[in-house]
Amino acid sequence: MTIILGIESSCDETGVGIVRLGADGLELLADEVASSVEQHVRFGGVVPEVASRAHLEAMVPTMRRAFDTAGLALSDVDAIAVTCGPGLAGALLVGVSAAKAYATALDVPLYGVNHLAGHVAADTLEHGPLPSPALALLVSGGHSQLLRVDDLAGGITEIGSTIDDAAGEAYDKVARVIGLPYPGGPPIDQAARRGNPSAIAFPRGLTGPRDAKYDFSFSGLKTAVARWVEARERDGEEVPVDDVSASFQEAVADVLTAKAVRAATDLGIGTMVISGGVAANSRLKELAAERCAAAGIELRVPRPRLCTDNGAMMAALGAHLVAAGVKPSSLDLSADPALPVSTVWV
Ligand code: KG4
Ligand code: ZN
Repeated sequence: MTIILGIESSCDETGVGIVRLGADGLELLADEVASSVEQHVRFGGVVPEVASRAHLEAMVPTMRRAFDTAGLALSDVDAIAVTCGPGLAGALLVGVSAAKAYATALDVPLYGVNHLAGHVAADTLEHGPLPSPALALLVSGGHSQLLRVDDLAGGITEIGSTIDDAAGEAYDKVARVIGLPYPGGPPIDQAARRGNPSAIAFPRGLTGPRDAKYDFSFSGLKTAVARWVEARERDGEEVPVDDVSASFQEAVADVLTAKAVRAATDLGIGTMVISGGVAANSRLKELAAERCAAAGIELRVPRPRLCTDNGAMMAALGAHLVAAGVKPSSLDLSADPALPVSTVWV
């Protein structure tokens, strides 16, 4: 039995998770998150310096809460996994420095791990071991990617990504255009339930016959929404927020699910995982379930709490590395804001 501590600080959530790796798999013992999102609201996006300072203040209290929840002491920890990239440089540094300090003080192995691989690993906490190969659709405020996952402990290949905005970023920008609060995903999701998804024909980026099959583009969609809203306002007409939300959301969910199902079908992959903050979206989940069922693909979406940034997913990834017998990182490991997804650990 092995206890793994996971530390996450790549963006605006300070996450500390604790998992137990036993003969019968992974057990989640604690998942504590402190978010600085409220400090970023008035800026309409994450301010890196503000996020770094918030991590510094939240790290030790979040750690204490996690150990209280798990009913464990620091001395029970057998290994530590920390997000070393990709993410905001200053924010990552807080987690990496804390992890090094704990690893040194406790004399346990340290694993510097990839945040994106952690999002995929989150699903194993809820649905058990991932079949190989699996296709992962990662959609959040910072990333939109299609990944082929052969092995969580090292075999991850990117097969597509956004060429401009991330899906969540598009939600956040469109929310601002139609007067909804930051972060934009939840309020647009709510408004969309009251609106008509066919009211406005917004464009589906990169879906032409000559476009990259597995890449995404959301910047044109965001601009199309802004132009449409501006035209209404110029004419002195009220903006139908519910219909704009529903039509925008339909365009996002349509493109994400169509490309993901196409990739899985083309590559002969029978399991799809959707993770990241946008995986909480009601229409995305509904359409993915419909299209995966029609294509004979098993769909796995972890609960929203595990989809958004957290420390438990990093602990889960660390547990997979420990189980695979991967060599721990060196104590001089550094944060890499641009760490590629193919580098699962450093
Ligand atoms: O994974 P996450 O918590 O942080 C990042 O790593 O970015 O994702 C946050 C993003 C935000 O852009 C937020 O607007 C979006 O996830 N989001 C949603 C929903 N809930 C959160 N987008 C669409 N529908 C939702 N229900
Ligand atoms: Zn994330």
